[in-house]
Amino acid sequence: MVQYNIALIGFGGVNRALAQLVAERNELWQSELGFRLNIVAVTDLNLGSVVSRNGIDARMLVETNFEKGGFARLSGGSAEADNEKVIRQAPADIVVEATFTNPRDGEPAVSHCRWALENHKHVVTTNKGPVALAAADLKAVARRNHVHFEYEGAVMSGTPVIRLAKNVLAGAGLSGFEGILNGTSNFVLGRMEAGLGFSAAVKEAQGFGYAEADPTADVEGYDVRLKVVILANELLGAALKPTDVSCEGISALTTMDIETAAKEGYRWKLIGSAARLENGSVEASVAPRRLPLDHPLAGVSGAINAVSFTTEMLGSVTITGPGAGRVETAYALLSDIIAIHRSASAGSITEAAE
Ligand code: HSE
Repeated sequence: MVQYNIALIGFGGVNRALAQLVAERNELWQSELGFRLNIVAVTDLNLGSVVSRNGIDARMLVETNFEKGGFARLSGGSAEADNEKVIRQAPADIVVEATFTNPRDGEPAVSHCRWALENHKHVVTTNKGPVALAAADLKAVARRNHVHFEYEGAVMSGTPVIRLAKNVLAGAGLSGFEGILNGTSNFVLGRMEAGLGFSAAVKEAQGFGYAEADPTADVEGYDVRLKVVILANELLGAALKPTDVSCEGISALTTMDIETAAKEGYRWKLIGSAARLENGSVEASVAPRRLPLDHPLAGVSGAINAVSFTTEMLGSVTITGPGAGRVETAYALLSDIIAIHRSASAGSITEAAE
């Protein structure tokens, strides 16, 4: 039986959802995917930390209503998070980083990833900060230590965008993309079209768990800007920083703008895009655009996201799916673990053949 020991860093909505999946699906994963997951450590700034070599009961973790510092009540627990010690020392094969996104320098998540990789632990993360701001560095640390750094959930939650474009569309001549990459702002635009005010619509999005801790990042386009940086750097070989991408959000759009567009057969969407220019450089932007209703992205509604890739071989290829949500984002972590598992299995076959 293959079992991966995992350490959960951050116990907010996403890692809780992953723990819930572990509680419900380990048997299924074992037969369907060939492995099971064992939670050996959890840290959380608010709850503290807990480490157990034998594994922590996933169901207990999700069903207990822990108070501040509440992990201290558990065997192997402490009221302090002590992320560095847990990440370096916990007996984990894979560190699951799902703390908050810091759009300025990516910390402390960048350090969480680095500590894990330096200690020969794979990292899977949904955190946009380390991927947008430190991917090149973290990939180099991962390579040196012969472990994986995987981050499918950094863009469009579990909808397979990065792996689709890098693996499945390899050789298709990808030269650009445009997409709806923020569920909250797309949801808000839809609710405003239905007559709701801006603030009420943002509150609803927060209630569904789509919005960032600070929803300003969603409505001002900063969240999309990080995703554009990630996709442009990953898929177009750019080396963009967030400040290289012009950025305008949806907060200046009024109900009147939205109603007028609807009357004229248009719909406002917040679009993140990037394209490789003839001189080889990559230009990227985030801005609201008034799309005609027959545009492929105009019908993408609610918290759903979509991205259209421009390719030489296939023309435009569009993938649509959830871009946020707890379970949807937790699934991205599972898909990263599956990628690690398959790569390990393929590696052992190659080694056996040599
Ligand atoms: N706040 C983001 C969104 C979550 O609304 O799309 C995923 O990055």
